[in-house]
Amino acid sequence: MPSPNSKTPKQSRSLIHQPHRDAWLEVDLGALEHNAKIMNASIEAFSAQQGRVAPLELMAVVKADAYGHGAMMVAPILKACGFGLLGVASIDEAVQLRQAGIEMPILVLSASPLWAMPLASEYNVQLTVFNQSHLTALSEQKKPVAVQVKVDTGMHRIGVPWQEASAFLRALDAIPMTKVSGIFSHFAMGDNPLACQQQWRRFSDVLAQHPPRLGQQVHIANSLGALNGHQAWQHCTMARLGIALYGYEAHVGVLPQTLQPVMGLKARFSHIQQVAAGEGISYNHTYKTEKPQWLGTIPLGYADGLPRGLSNQLEASYQGIRIPQVGMITMDQTIFDLSPIVDRLGRPPSLGDVITLLETGKQACGVEAGRVLLTLSAWAKTLNTIEYELMCALRVRLPRIYTRSGV
Ligand SMILES: Cc1ncc(COP(=O)(O)O)c(C=O)c1O
Repeated sequence: MPSPNSKTPKQSRSLIHQPHRDAWLEVDLGALEHNAKIMNASIEAFSAQQGRVAPLELMAVVKADAYGHGAMMVAPILKACGFGLLGVASIDEAVQLRQAGIEMPILVLSASPLWAMPLASEYNVQLTVFNQSHLTALSEQKKPVAVQVKVDTGMHRIGVPWQEASAFLRALDAIPMTKVSGIFSHFAMGDNPLACQQQWRRFSDVLAQHPPRLGQQVHIANSLGALNGHQAWQHCTMARLGIALYGYEAHVGVLPQTLQPVMGLKARFSHIQQVAAGEGISYNHTYKTEKPQWLGTIPLGYADGLPRGLSNQLEASYQGIRIPQVGMITMDQTIFDLSPIVDRLGRPPSLGDVITLLETGKQACGVEAGRVLLTLSAWAKTLNTIEYELMCALRVRLPRIYTRSGV
């Protein structure tokens, strides 16, 4: 028994959420491993086709708490799958990982404020640099800072313009407290081989003018770019993978197997009722019952990241039976039409029964005629957005339960 004074292990909020809610995310670490292995093998194959013999390094992009999947839980799995580096968006994300005991090399991919330099040095985190103020601040550092240089080859978000990059790299080389661990850029259209090619040409000009030193990482490709910008593998040493690890942006025909969604979403019925015909449901009565109808409410709403824009356009599954969502999705609660369950089973479900809004693993991949998959891709299509935005939004308030399907 621990003594009353013994220290409770420090647990970050995002490490384990206690499931004190009847709505939760299910993160399938088996699907994560499946995706990591497929991407790893495919990229190795592409790079071998380009004549590359040295093994490629892989960065797992775990910013935004691993796109909502929990960076501290996914990092060790990805490390075991051969990923050697983590990519985050800010110094605080990097420090959180260090404080949780993650020892892998970390690169902050976005621009960091100058005050982050001593912190980066203290926590052994690499920063991205690209402008004059970075050069000035680096030359004032008392302790070594590891950096990677971001070259803007066409994304025009951050980075030193490719025409000025070699002068920037020379200036950086003259700063004693700075260790340049890598040079990188970012594809703006990873799914467009021609656009990748143009950016790659600009990047390779920089590399020709200022050849990377032994051990310096060279990278430009994200998940899609890694599959479409093959020519980059002649010179790149690393790919930075995010969305593919989490099971989306699958390219049938390019990959040997389908990627599997890692993030699932489930909830229990908190209320079941029968409502008379002709009644309006939820705010503004956007749905009206056509007959006496069984309805089920779940404690999940747009404050959890369930997009309000999906109101009256969402489906869930109850023991394999699809049920349509009806009425406006509200901040914390959402209503489903239970008629298909009553029709099939002759009774409504019970209070506390579970429904699935997003499936994971193999279940989320099967194609069945006339059936919309319960995936973020289906939501994204309805909402005219991308899976990235939806998965990040789901991380805010929901507990996460980690499972591991067979791979
Ligand atoms: C600089 C950088 N590299 C890599 C990635 C990973 O991209 P993806 O999730 O498309 O693989 C991102 C994600 O936005 C990024 O900003």
